[in-house]
Parts: sequence; C-alpha cells; structure tokens
Amino acid sequence: MRHALAILISGRGSNMAAIIERAQAESWPADFCLVLANNPGAQGLKTAAEHGIPTAVLNHRDYRGRRSEYDSALAARVQSAGATLVVLAGFMRILGPEFTQPFAGRIVNIHPSLLPLYPGLNTHQRAIDAGDSVAGCTVHLVDKSLDGGRVLAQAEVPVLPGDNADTLADRVLIQEHRLYPSVVRDLIDGRLSLEEGQTSPNRQFKQEAAK
Ligand code: GRF
Repeated sequence: MRHALAILISGRGSNMAAIIERAQAESWPADFCLVLANNPGAQGLKTAAEHGIPTAVLNHRDYRGRRSEYDSALAARVQSAGATLVVLAGFMRILGPEFTQPFAGRIVNIHPSLLPLYPGLNTHQRAIDAGDSVAGCTVHLVDKSLDGGRVLAQAEVPVLPGDNADTLADRVLIQEHRLYPSVVRDLIDGRLSLEEGQTSPNRQFKQEAAK
C-alpha cells in the first residue's frame, strides 16, 4: 500500500521538514497529501508549500468553546485529503475522540521526553529540575490519553552540567530529527506496525542516538 501522509503542525515545523527531506532524499513510496496547521502563523506552512505539498489552516480560534466540533472538522479535512497515516509534529492540541476514533491506530506523535516521564508541557525544565542525567524523545501511537499511547521508539541524550531548558531542547531536537523520519519510514515499509500487540523496537534507536 502506498501511504498518504498528513502532517499536523502548530509552529516551526522542523520535525515536519526533517521527515519531508528524508522522504525526498530516499524516494519513499509515500505521498504527502496535506500539511495542516491550527495556527495561521505556523512557519512550517511556508516550508511545506516550498516543497510543493498542499497546505491548510484550521484555526482553533474559530471554534472557541467547541472543541469537539473542531476535532470533527479536522477529521473531515484530513480524511478528505485521503490520509492513511497522520503524523503529529509539534501539533499543540489535545485531540479528542472525534479525531482519534476515525484515525485509531493511524496517528503518531513525537514528544520531547522519555515517556512515560513528563507527559504534557515544559518537559526539558522538568527533567532538569528532577536532576535527571538522561533526557530524550519518544515517538508514540496517539490515542485518547495525553502522551500515553504505546511507545514506538525513543532516543536518549545526556543532560549536561549547566544545561538549561533551551540547551537541552536543542540537544533533544537533533535526535528528534533523526528518530522521527526513521520511525515513519519503518511504518511505511511495514517494519513497524501500529497494530495492537506489537512490541516496541526502541532499543535500536537508543543505540543509534548514542553514537
Ligand atoms: C518538538 O520538540 C516536538 O517534540 C514537540 O514540539 C516540538 C515541535 O518542534 N512535540 P517543530 O515544530 O517540529 O520544530
């Protein structure tokens, strides 16, 4: 099956760009059917358009107090683009069942912590405050829980003396840009499955990241 990828973003879109660039460099057997942002100012929209990918904005501010309507509209938009896999890349919204149910088992996300540690926001500061010596990022299946879906892969980085949230974020982001395209490629090629009951091959990526 040739996959059609929809990428959802809210801002910079550097993970999105890393995926698109790997896909183009390696001629993935997949198409990018849509890059959608919930924020009209998302920088990543311009990057996607420069790569010739259709873009759209579904502004959550137009749906104040109507979260489930937003999620339904989002599902309709992504469905009409023909997406077979939804890639969340810095999409700063919690998705409700109106979105997660129609796409169950077909949504992945990258989170900048070693889940199950630090779901939610401010992950890097929380790792520093806890005195952790290791931080990292996680690619996981998205379900209705907050950052709680099955872990697909992780990459680790050291927390160094003198780190602040920005320096640690920069170090983690380098690994995000390696890990996320690798996982999406493995999903496309069938080396990794989103179906229930699959075990996580994350060690392979941790070692790669440690080099
Ligand atoms: C990344 O750190 C990602 O892990 C988190 O949000 C950030 C998005 O960055 N979910 P970008 O938009 O991909 O540059």
